[in-house]
Amino acid sequence: MTSLRSSEWYAGDDRNAYIHRAWMRRGVPDDFAERPQIAIANTASDLTPCNRHLTEVAASVRDGITEAGGIPLELPVASIGETQVRPTAMLWRNMAAMATEEMLRANPVDGVVLLGGCDKTIPSLLMAAASVDIPAVVVPGGPMLSGHFRGEALGCGTDVWRLSEEVRAGSLSNADFMKSEGSMIRSKGHCNTMGTASTMALVAEALGTVLPGLAGTPAPDARLLVGARETGRLAVELVNDDRRPSTFLTPASFHNAIVALAAIGGSTNAVVHLLAIAGRLGIDLTIDDFDRIGADVPLLVNLQPAGRFLMDDLYRAGGFQAVLREVGDLLDPTALTVDGRPLVDHLGDATIWDREVITPREEPLQPSAGIAVLRGSLAPGGALIKPAAASPHLLEHRGRAVVFDSIEDFHARIDDPELDIDETSVMVLRGCGPKGYPGMPEVSNMPLPKKLLEQGVRDMVRICDGRMSGTAYGTVILHVTPEAAAGGPLALVRTGDWITLSVAARRVDLEVSEEELAARTPNEATLAGFASPRRGWERLYVDHVTQADTGADLDFLVGGSGSTVSRESH
Ligand code: FES
Repeated sequence: MTSLRSSEWYAGDDRNAYIHRAWMRRGVPDDFAERPQIAIANTASDLTPCNRHLTEVAASVRDGITEAGGIPLELPVASIGETQVRPTAMLWRNMAAMATEEMLRANPVDGVVLLGGCDKTIPSLLMAAASVDIPAVVVPGGPMLSGHFRGEALGCGTDVWRLSEEVRAGSLSNADFMKSEGSMIRSKGHCNTMGTASTMALVAEALGTVLPGLAGTPAPDARLLVGARETGRLAVELVNDDRRPSTFLTPASFHNAIVALAAIGGSTNAVVHLLAIAGRLGIDLTIDDFDRIGADVPLLVNLQPAGRFLMDDLYRAGGFQAVLREVGDLLDPTALTVDGRPLVDHLGDATIWDREVITPREEPLQPSAGIAVLRGSLAPGGALIKPAAASPHLLEHRGRAVVFDSIEDFHARIDDPELDIDETSVMVLRGCGPKGYPGMPEVSNMPLPKKLLEQGVRDMVRICDGRMSGTAYGTVILHVTPEAAAGGPLALVRTGDWITLSVAARRVDLEVSEEELAARTPNEATLAGFASPRRGWERLYVDHVTQADTGADLDFLVGGSGSTVSRESH
């Protein structure tokens, strides 16, 4: 066993060690200071409803840590409720990561169990742990059970978008839509579709940072608490073996995460999160790696928004490991998990029990399901599209731009009967990137114009420098880089310009000559959306956030801080 980091606080017979030890003696064993000190970074919060149950999960983690001879130390950390916070949860991901990083560094802890669930919480925790590089393991809070309305399962997020579009199309009354609200959230846990929370829990396991087999366990399932307890024991082992993130997270781990992301039909948000986590580890991951590794991976999971079922169906059908086993030959066998063994060694007896939910490799839902990376005159730094969630007939398309300068401009005009738009138009929304909004909100899947919905149109090509919810669907080109507010050509598009999209050629182009584009300047309405915030986190964020193609982290947070803080407090 290596010497404990916490001994820098606790070891010795001087005044400072006395102070550090004495104030902690509140029922702990006499020899507490010689044992591994394991923080439980807990994102439970009443304002993060998807994580509210994590305090119960933390109790099981505590039991495991104590059983293994460690000292459990609950550490409430910044938490972000996806549905609640304004202006957008992504603005706060880096703040939560920075705060967690600093609290881990500042305190006498030797290892950490990371409790997350709702979209930004697992990414922020992993970014922090990667930068501090102390032994760390994730317990995903798990998805909620499926709710039902009028005999049909309701998918969190996905069915909100679907039903609200039905109201706008006139095929569902608003009163009936409101009635569905009480059925949407059936139990504790995070969203039950293959949205960002589910995606990041599964991807965290594919990366190797979760006890193998635990991700995807529904929040109310007793096996989550069993896994939490085992994870507590594992955390003590990690400290004893000095197994830190940098010792097992490698490019091979990210390769496996990208394969998994495609096979589950996961959220495009995983791209910015994985890029940011890799950046903290000094691993050279690029958006092109997602296309290169993931584009030809088959889609095997029939979950909303790309398919029919929900997360508790996936668990019942064999779970994430059964999916990984089907694509086992695409995984990198050298990638290790947090328990010290290769990921592929854990997949031996994983079985598909319901072939409608998890399709076998020979009969995939789609043969190629990964995220495609587009470049072209409209996105010189790259943009993403998720072909599995798009309409096949729109993957090759040419149409005239209808431009909106902000989401407020969009809402004000989209249902105007006089708006000059038809189903061949390309809807362009700008001012929604990391700097422009600020915070890169999930608005890229713009609702279609009411008049077109009433005509039966259900999808159109949409282009935006923001993100979209992992629970959303449609032919949406997003994460356009550089964003409009960073001087990208998106700022110069005018209504009426022709735009061509070819997913096959991986291109998105504005049919405006370079000379004409060079002569254009952003209009006043575009510029008005980029006013720089004057104070606080927003100002720091806008001044330092990187573009989506590098993870939208803050430039000064990329890389690691390490765990050493040599200066004493008194
Ligand atoms: Fe929390 Fe969807 S809102 S996971």
